[in-house]
Amino acid sequence: MSKVITVINQKGGVGKSTTAHTLGVGLKNKGYDVLLIDLDAQSNLSYITDLENAQKSVIDILMGNEDINDCIYKGESCDIIPSNTRLSSADIFLSETGKEYKIKEAISNLGDKYDFVVIDTPPALGILTINALTASDYCIIPAGADILSLQGIGQLYSTIDAVKKYTNRDLKIMGILITRYNSRTILSRDLTDMLVETAESLKTKVFDAKIREAVAIKESQISKTDIFSYDNNSKVARDYQDFVNEVVESLEV
Ligand SMILES: Nc1ncnc2c1ncn2[C@@H]1O[C@H](COP(=O)(O)OP(=O)(O)OP(=O)(O)O)[C@@H](O)[C@H]1O
Ligand SMILES: [Mg+2]
Repeated sequence: MSKVITVINQKGGVGKSTTAHTLGVGLKNKGYDVLLIDLDAQSNLSYITDLENAQKSVIDILMGNEDINDCIYKGESCDIIPSNTRLSSADIFLSETGKEYKIKEAISNLGDKYDFVVIDTPPALGILTINALTASDYCIIPAGADILSLQGIGQLYSTIDAVKKYTNRDLKIMGILITRYNSRTILSRDLTDMLVETAESLKTKVFDAKIREAVAIKESQISKTDIFSYDNNSKVARDYQDFVNEVVESLEV
């Protein structure tokens, strides 16, 4: 059975797509079979994996028009199910009973093809995010070291609680990942302490690895590749490698 990990935060621009992509590639580089699912109509993950014009997409699965196994594309490193703007009408076409379980059902049709499925979600707590959380063993919350991120995590927690209550009692929060970090500012350090306290109150942790703000991330995405292939010696590639190692370690214990 594959382990399903969703990257969530309803706050925009915190590094969800970057983290989902990099985690997927990092796990693949460790020898695991990985499927990435782009569940965001913005299709940023599909863009950086050069699949934004793919013919089939996750919407075909949600609408019941295609089997999940027929919507998988080979990316540079991981397999991927892309998305496109048609997904923005998901609220309308996902209206029947059982709508929260569409992704879970689809993933069960993958059999044991993958060790990991990593899902990228939109900056919203709507039906797509609920689908992802319902299908997941774990979620990871990327967050900036800023006060509004802190506020957002409280709101996010009520959604996770509702999912645990109604559709997936086994969902676990693996941790909060501090992204776009600038260690030079005292404010960042203070807010990191506050994030650690928030994590404790949510019975989770802040990952030891912090992802620094670095232009190499943007450059790698312009080149439609991942940070490990783009510049494996960069400090930010090492940050992400530490994070991937922590994810694997936390699954082994
Ligand atoms: N560590 C980083 N250093 C510098 N830039 C970064 C870093 N992480 C992400 N970015 C940039 O920040 C922007 C937002 O990142 P990303 O798209 O991963 O966030 P997101 O949470 O998925 O956004 P959205 O909520 O819109 O889906 C992108 O332009 C990305 O290139
Ligand atoms: Mg995104």
